[in-house]
Parts: sequence; C-alpha cells; structure tokens
Amino acid sequence: MTLQTQKYASTAVVLHWLIALCIICNVVLGLGANYVPDAWVRPMINLHKSIGITVLGLVLVRIAWRLTHKPPALPENYAPLERLAAHTVHFLLYALILALPLTGWIHDSAFALAAQHPLILFGVIPWFRLGFITDLAPAAKDHIHSLFGMIHTYLGYALYGVFALHILGALKHQFWDKDPEIQRMWF
Ligand code: HEM
Repeated sequence: MTLQTQKYASTAVVLHWLIALCIICNVVLGLGANYVPDAWVRPMINLHKSIGITVLGLVLVRIAWRLTHKPPALPENYAPLERLAAHTVHFLLYALILALPLTGWIHDSAFALAAQHPLILFGVIPWFRLGFITDLAPAAKDHIHSLFGMIHTYLGYALYGVFALHILGALKHQFWDKDPEIQRMWF
C-alpha cells in the first residue's frame, strides 16, 4: 500500500488538529486559572467554557465522520501488541474528549450563581445550560456541582496520561521505527 492510500482524509486531519489545539488551550486555561490573579479567573474560565462547548460540537462531528468513514489501515509492520495499544489509546481519547466537555457542562449547569454568569460563547453567542440540572433544588445542584467538578478534574488527569501515550507512540513510530507516522495525519 502506498503512503498516499494510508493517509487520513483531509476532513479527519482538520478535525484532529483543531480538536488537539482546542484541548491544549483548554488544559492551559483550566489549570492556569488556579495560578493567576483573581481578576483573570472569570475571563479565563469563560474562554475555557466557550472552547469546551466548541470541542463538544467538533467531537460529535468527528465521531459521526469516524463511524461513516473507514480510517486508513495501520502499517503492516506494527506488532499485534502495538495495534492493540494504538486502538485502545484511540478509543480512550475519544471517550475522554467527549466526557471532558460533557462533565464540564454539567458542572457549570449546576453552578449556584449560573443566573448571574450567563454562558455566552466567546462573549458573542448566548448558550444554554442543561435545564434538567438548572431546575433542581439548590442542595442537589451543589452536590452535582462538586461531584462533576471532581470528575472533570480526574478526567483531566486521565487525559494527561493517555495523551502522553499517544504522543510517545507517534514519536516511537516516527523516529525509532522511521515510519512516516505524522505524515499519515497531515495533508
Ligand atoms: C475540551 C474540553 C475540556 C477540557 C480538556 C477541560 C479541562 C479542564 C481542566 C484540565 C481543568 C482544570 C482542573 C484542575 O484544576 O485540575 C478544568 C476546569 C474547569 N472546567 Fe473544563 N475542560 C473542558 C471543557 C469544559 C466545559 C465545556 C466546561 C463548561 C461549560 C468546563 C468548565 C470548567 C470549569 C468551571 C473549571 C474550573 C473547575 C473548578 O476549579 O471549579 N470545562 N477543565
């Protein structure tokens, strides 16, 4: 099989790098908000929410694309264990990039001061909270807010680990095995 036929389609490449960029920005914003002056926290978290909701939309498009388009086969020289590792890591990445925005959105919808802080994507597009959560009693909302805040944080930790495996795998194939790995996910 030629390199040409082994590459991902341009739509998959655009979605891959766009989502990767958004997720890196969101990790920097989410973690960074713990270390900046108070006046910066709200604008940083607002941008974080805007990017996160955008990622949710992009991930849904990506999953729909993935279910309707067969990805290029892995190179034949991959060992069976490497194939299993690659498929497992890819599946976990899909699960995490879907679960992170969803848990963030649930956490935010249960925010006691949500009414005073409307969700406006990039300061321009008014967005909705999840009505079945905003309608709950204050005590239930507080519980959901802290529970999903914690789940969101732990999913972040899982993301760092799985993301590291993903990068290490790609670098191993690119530089150790000298396979054109990064070119598969480029135009
Ligand atoms: C690409 C998707 C997302 C990623 C990768 C992500 C990641 C993160 C990370 C790493 C943190 C810092 C956690 C810590 O302090 O260790 C964080 C915090 C936070 N995220 Fe997200 N997030 C995403 C989407 C969202 C969405 C869609 C919302 C809400 C609409 C949201 C709301 C929040 C809030 C409010 C915090 C602060 C939590 C707190 O300290 O109370 N996130 N996020």
